[in-house]
Amino acid sequence: MQVFYNRTSFLQYIDSQKEQHKTIGFAPTMGALHAGHISLYEEAKKHNDIVISSIFVNPTQFNNPEDLEKYPRTVDDDIEKLENSKLVDAVYIPQVQDIYPDGMERKHYEFGGIENEMEGAARPGHFDGVGTVVEELFRQVKPDNAYFGEKDFQQLKIIEKLVEILNLDIKIHGVKIHRENNGLAMSSRNMRLSAAEKEASSVIYQTLKKVDDWFRVVSIPEIKNRVQEIFDRDDMALEYFLIADEDTLREADFFSEDKNYRAFIVVNVDQVRLIDNMHLK
Ligand code: PAF
Repeated sequence: MQVFYNRTSFLQYIDSQKEQHKTIGFAPTMGALHAGHISLYEEAKKHNDIVISSIFVNPTQFNNPEDLEKYPRTVDDDIEKLENSKLVDAVYIPQVQDIYPDGMERKHYEFGGIENEMEGAARPGHFDGVGTVVEELFRQVKPDNAYFGEKDFQQLKIIEKLVEILNLDIKIHGVKIHRENNGLAMSSRNMRLSAAEKEASSVIYQTLKKVDDWFRVVSIPEIKNRVQEIFDRDDMALEYFLIADEDTLREADFFSEDKNYRAFIVVNVDQVRLIDNMHLK
């Protein structure tokens, strides 16, 4: 596996791959890699000649400076994990000026309204920051296929919209959520949880499974009450729980037979913000 720490050498590498007509599969990351990330590269490996990873903690997508500061940075360990996976041909670890040569400004995008729901409302500017870095990475990596985890389902929808509005010839693939044995969705943020907190956080997945059982049997307002009661009982800080239309990401108060729905949840465990979601049958 080749490791590139600057834009110039990385772009030369990409050009040489393109000259050889190799198809490129790409999954960007912010590091602190776990099995969920590796599953993106497993998927990429199946359908592309070469697989590229990137590691860059993107400042413009953090609306909370403390969250940015506390974001785990484990580059040596990440390189080892990628190397051991034997799935990745090259990893790009750019410097800030490689991504933001003209200063660290986020662009503004109109994603058709989905950017204002859920995480967009909770974290103003977040999706503009994600769009800015992913657009720049796409322009440098020039992938044919790009892979994003469904844990950040709203982000996945935003990226699909991004390639559409920028008219980029890149196919976006969503990859199923990878979970710990107790059901907790894998996330780089889980590193900041104690063993006891990790165990307690399994209630998030357990609750989503209950919601799936209640869905179409119990009304949505009643499901929301039940979820709130579970987290009150466990004395855990539920930031939000809602059921939304999978296409518009708008919150649903009742369901229609012809639409797909997904439950979304955010819980704060001792200042660690955990997000999860589940498609509802
Ligand atoms: O999901 C992430 O890790 C980040 O939002 C991404 C897509 C790498 C952009 O910084």
